[in-house]
Amino acid sequence: MTEQYIAAIDQGTTSSRCIVFDHSGSIVSMDQKEHEQIFPKPGWVEHDAAEIWTNVQEVVKGAIEKGNLSKDQIKAIGITNQRETTLVWDKETGEPVHNAIVWQDTRTDKLCQELGSNVGQERFREKVGLPLATYFAGPKIRWLLDNVEGLRERAERGEVLFGTMDSWVIWNLTGGTHVIDVTNASRTMLMNLRTLAWDESILDAMKIPAAMLPEIRSSAEVYGNAVGYLEGVPVASALGDQQAALFGQTCFNVGEAKSTYGTGTFLLLNTGTEPVVSKKGLLTTVGYKIGDQPAAYALEGSIAVTGSLVQWLRDNLGLIKAAPEVEDLANTVDDNGGCYVVPAFSGLFAPHWRSDARGVIAGLTRYINKGHIARATLEATSWQTREVVDAMDSDSGVPLTELKVDGGMTANNMLMQHLSDVLNVPVVRPVVAETTCLGAAYAAGLATGYWSDIPSLRANWQKDAEWTPDMDSELRDREYAGWNKAVQRTLGWVD
Ligand code: G3P
Repeated sequence: MTEQYIAAIDQGTTSSRCIVFDHSGSIVSMDQKEHEQIFPKPGWVEHDAAEIWTNVQEVVKGAIEKGNLSKDQIKAIGITNQRETTLVWDKETGEPVHNAIVWQDTRTDKLCQELGSNVGQERFREKVGLPLATYFAGPKIRWLLDNVEGLRERAERGEVLFGTMDSWVIWNLTGGTHVIDVTNASRTMLMNLRTLAWDESILDAMKIPAAMLPEIRSSAEVYGNAVGYLEGVPVASALGDQQAALFGQTCFNVGEAKSTYGTGTFLLLNTGTEPVVSKKGLLTTVGYKIGDQPAAYALEGSIAVTGSLVQWLRDNLGLIKAAPEVEDLANTVDDNGGCYVVPAFSGLFAPHWRSDARGVIAGLTRYINKGHIARATLEATSWQTREVVDAMDSDSGVPLTELKVDGGMTANNMLMQHLSDVLNVPVVRPVVAETTCLGAAYAAGLATGYWSDIPSLRANWQKDAEWTPDMDSELRDREYAGWNKAVQRTLGWVD
């Protein structure tokens, strides 16, 4: 028999990718395509879902062709995706009724305040594990229902369907299966974390008709078989990208954590089969659910802007031509010169949850040059991680002893060293740093018998690089105090 592989599709914020993996969890081939970022107004971010589906089809084909594989060598397809990004489409035609509203979009700011009514942003936290914030899908659905003409009536009649990007990709791949995986559902604010079902009282409060919602399914099971190019191949997993990375990093035990450095940064800690409700501004979310097995929960620190701050230096300020150049520019100076960049472009996410915040560059003097700005840009990623780790230590009662990292920014040596310095723990990166796709592949492989069980996947994890702390504690405290002062300057910028 010819060798079999798993294909994972990652429908991300800036691009769609497909990676084909073999049984050892190694990459066989991949393809990737960026899509347009649409910014109709300050704070608004949209994607064209039709463009995304076209790109997904192209990268699947591209990855298979680049690997010189035949379609019948693909045992199963796994899906992972940018989370919270919200789409509504027509059930008959499959046409989106509006561009997808992206997770970074802040248009629901006022709506979130109203939904908090007298109770405030913690109104639904006990049930859904999340604060009321623009980040999540529920308020975005409500915005569409309130602003697209006739949509509410169509939704009530069951003529239009809501989905996150996993739902959209599965719907198109299978020719019309309307499902959402439980990890993505846990980012809508509409799913009860304990029952893993849509919560009627929250649907009522948010005025969202149940008829438009997908069926909630586990992260690893066959949702249907593909139609089109991969005709007949089982579509067998879906996880939000950060949960997929947790799975790909094999953080299967309580207390194991990973942090993914992409557009934003997301640190997830496996807390086991009971949800832990945060007191420190972290999110409680479903980590994964493999078929009929109980769900594993996670605490999450979500940081909206890290890699995208480097892109902003490149695209909006023109300080660098390509993102990797930021390290060389930062290396032209010895330190940040007292300068801090707090990239509150979408407000501040964890642990602050302040949608009224906007970015600042603080501590400017005539001495500061572009090298200092580049350095402060990279350091912003470490300090934001430090804030999340402090909250995590406090919520879980167990200090972090090591951080597994992945994502594009982990190629930046200066940043990884600074991260280890400010966290004061070792930072380790695996050989296969594409953990998001790997996690989706693992889940699809488990659902179809390609891999036998979860423990066997651990053997595939191998260390590629490690950074150990090398910073004087006084300096660390002084710098952290500077960062905290700069954060204070961002708050209350928007009324
Ligand atoms: O919650 C947002 C997150 O899923 C986006 O991830 O890697 O596509 O920026 P990424």
